[in-house]
Amino acid sequence: MTSRIPYQTLSGTSRLAGVMGWPVSHSKSPRLQGYWLAKYGIDGSYMPLPVEPKNFQAALISLRNLGFSGVNVTIPQKEMAMPECDELSDRARRIGAVNTVTFAKDGRILGDNTDGFGFIENLRQEAPNADFCAGPAVVLGAGGASRAVLFALLDEGSPEIRIANRTRKRADDLAAEINDPRIKVVDWPLEPAALADISLLVNTTSLGMVGQPKLEINLDGLPQTALVTDIVYAPLITDLLAQAQKRGNPIVDGLGMLLHQARPGFHRWFGIDPEVTAELRDFVLSPD
Ligand code: ATR
Repeated sequence: MTSRIPYQTLSGTSRLAGVMGWPVSHSKSPRLQGYWLAKYGIDGSYMPLPVEPKNFQAALISLRNLGFSGVNVTIPQKEMAMPECDELSDRARRIGAVNTVTFAKDGRILGDNTDGFGFIENLRQEAPNADFCAGPAVVLGAGGASRAVLFALLDEGSPEIRIANRTRKRADDLAAEINDPRIKVVDWPLEPAALADISLLVNTTSLGMVGQPKLEINLDGLPQTALVTDIVYAPLITDLLAQAQKRGNPIVDGLGMLLHQARPGFHRWFGIDPEVTAELRDFVLSPD
C-alpha cells in the first residue's frame, strides 16, 4: 500500500466508527484505522469527531442513534465517558477511564479501556524473548497512563512494581487505591538501588516528549537484561531509550502501544483482529 489511501466508497450498510476528543486533529487513530479498513477491504469508515466537552454526552447518544458501531474516546473525555456507559469492562472500571466504546445491537453503551492491553501486546511483539515479569518492575509516573500500565502488569503476574513519581502523594494515593501488596512506592528521583534487581523499567511520564523537559535518570545500577520501554513515541527513541540501548539493554519504543490499543475496537466494530506490522508503523509515522 502506498502512503495514500486513494479513495473510499461506502455502501448503505457501511460500519461507522470514529474518535471523539477535543481537540482531535492531532489523533493518529483515523490514519491507523483507515489503513486497516483499506488493507482488509472493509466497507466502513473511521472519522475524526471533534466534540467539545460540553457536548460529549449528547454526541455519544447521537452517534449511537445514528447507527455507529462504536468510537474511541480521547483526552479530555476518557473519564467523562465512564458514567455514560451502561456496562464497563473490569479493566475500564479499575483504570477509571474509557478509551473504546461499542454500541451494542440492543442500544447499550459498552465501555472498555485497551491501553494496558496495548502496552503488554507491544512488549510481547517487540521483545518476544524478554521475561519482563521475571523480577520487579519500576514504573515512572502516577497519572492516567501509569494506571493502565500498573493494572496490566499486575494481571500479567509481575512479582513487584515500584512506582516513582515527582509528586509522592499521587503515587501513595494510587498505591493505596490499588491496594495490592506487590505495589511499592519509591523515591523520585530514583535511588540506584531501586533499579538493581529489576526486569522492566517503564516511563509513563511526559518527560522526554517533544517540547517537554528531559527525563534525568541514572541507569548505572540497572541489570543489562532489563527491558526498558517508554510510552512516549515522539520522538520514537527518547533519551531514556537511547541511554538504555547504549549500555546494551533491550528497548521497546512507545508507538506499538498506540497501535495495539486500537486492535480491540477495530475487531469489535469491523469484525477482524488487525495486524500490527512494520509497514503500519511507517504509515502512521509518515506525514499525511
Ligand atoms: P497521563 O494521563 O498521560 O499519565 P497525567 O495524568 O497528567 O498524564 O500524568 C503525567 C505524569 O507525568 C505524572 O506522573 C507527572 O508527575 P506529577 O504527578 O508529579 O505531576 C509526570 N510529569 C509531568 N511533568 C513532569 C516533570 N516536569 N517532572 C516530573 N514528572 C512529570
